[in-house]
Amino acid sequence: MPRQQLRSGLEGVTVAETRLSDIDGEAGELVVGGFPVETLATNASYEETLFLMLEDRLPTADELAGFRADLAARRDLCEAAHAVVRRAAADGESAMDALRMGLAAASLDADTGDHRAAAKRVVAVVPTIVAAYWRYREGESPVDPDPDLGHAANYLAMLTGETPDDHAVRGLETYLNTVVDHGLNASTFTARTVVSTESDLVSAATAAVGALKGPLHGGAPGPVLEMLRTVHETGDPAAYVRETLDAGERLMGFGHRVYRVRDPRAAVLSTAAERFYGAAGERAFYDTVEQFESVALDLLAEHKPDRRLATNVEFYTAALLHGVGVPRELFTPTFAVARSGGWMAHCLEQLADNRLVRPVSRYVGETDREWTPVERR
Ligand code: ACO
Repeated sequence: MPRQQLRSGLEGVTVAETRLSDIDGEAGELVVGGFPVETLATNASYEETLFLMLEDRLPTADELAGFRADLAARRDLCEAAHAVVRRAAADGESAMDALRMGLAAASLDADTGDHRAAAKRVVAVVPTIVAAYWRYREGESPVDPDPDLGHAANYLAMLTGETPDDHAVRGLETYLNTVVDHGLNASTFTARTVVSTESDLVSAATAAVGALKGPLHGGAPGPVLEMLRTVHETGDPAAYVRETLDAGERLMGFGHRVYRVRDPRAAVLSTAAERFYGAAGERAFYDTVEQFESVALDLLAEHKPDRRLATNVEFYTAALLHGVGVPRELFTPTFAVARSGGWMAHCLEQLADNRLVRPVSRYVGETDREWTPVERR
């Protein structure tokens, strides 16, 4: 057989057609469901974005009301899943592990057979699981979903036990829309691979959570927040950046595998963060964030003149999620709250024109070993 070209990490390999999102890494542009991310993120509710992902068009007002009610009816978590999440919190499991376990247990009462219904169930229940985990972890009772609140507002209300203000809801909703889908990233590809075997969507979502958990993907906007807090206290971003780079470490929130310019999602989230901190009367923290970005870009350009390192999505994610009241430990699960919409839409796309995902590997092992009986090894 001829030797196939090895494409480690499947880099640059096109394996699916999608109408969900398109990334131009050179120009720094992202299209989601046919809209520039800036337009979609700032105008849509998460329910509108999810409808767009699943149906490839925006809903009418009546359809949107029906869709909101449909999601609301799928938010509750069964007692078996609560028990699993409660135990995970008590045992000190991470939020992402608790989400994986909770989703698996939630499938006990999930729709079977109807892929669209299962997709909506998965997206509806992810925030309920994450919030319940957090409440249990904090020694508090979980807060039931409120059918009168939208997706983003519900998540915040279930986390805090209080009805969130409009600025926080809009800030979170902008984040959820911004990161709902991003091409064939690792977790989305994982979800598509699972359903390509004609497995179910809950299994796909559970596997995708596992893929997102890894630090190379779900990343850690948490460390970005620590960095921003430190610099807000010291007031000296240049010292922080120099120290980090001199120590041979990477500056969190900068650089990207695909984007060669500023990640367009960073632009959307910086505007949202500025609006949020301005409205909340906490402009000083946002000023630190902006100043840090500017100083860091200058010093990174000196540090790596041949490799343009620009701001990525994690930088302003940390600032925005912190502002709207999401605890640092829940930054990655909140990414899952958003991205579950992309996962499920990709699963439906995969199933509509399915071909089993089955790449090949190149064998580099021995070929002529001689068998030695166990008593002689
Ligand atoms: N700070 C300092 N130097 C950096 C940074 C950074 N943030 N990012 C890359 N570099 C340097 C590397 O050290 C490397 O230098 P070298 O050639 O001397 O070894 C060079 O730039 C190229 O690095 P690569 O690893 O090839 O860059 P790649 O594009 O593969 O990596 C990545 C992208 C992993 C995001 C990287 O930029 C990074 O580690 N950034 C910091 C962590 C971070 O912000 N992660 C979130 C990414 S966004 C997301 O995943 C949703």
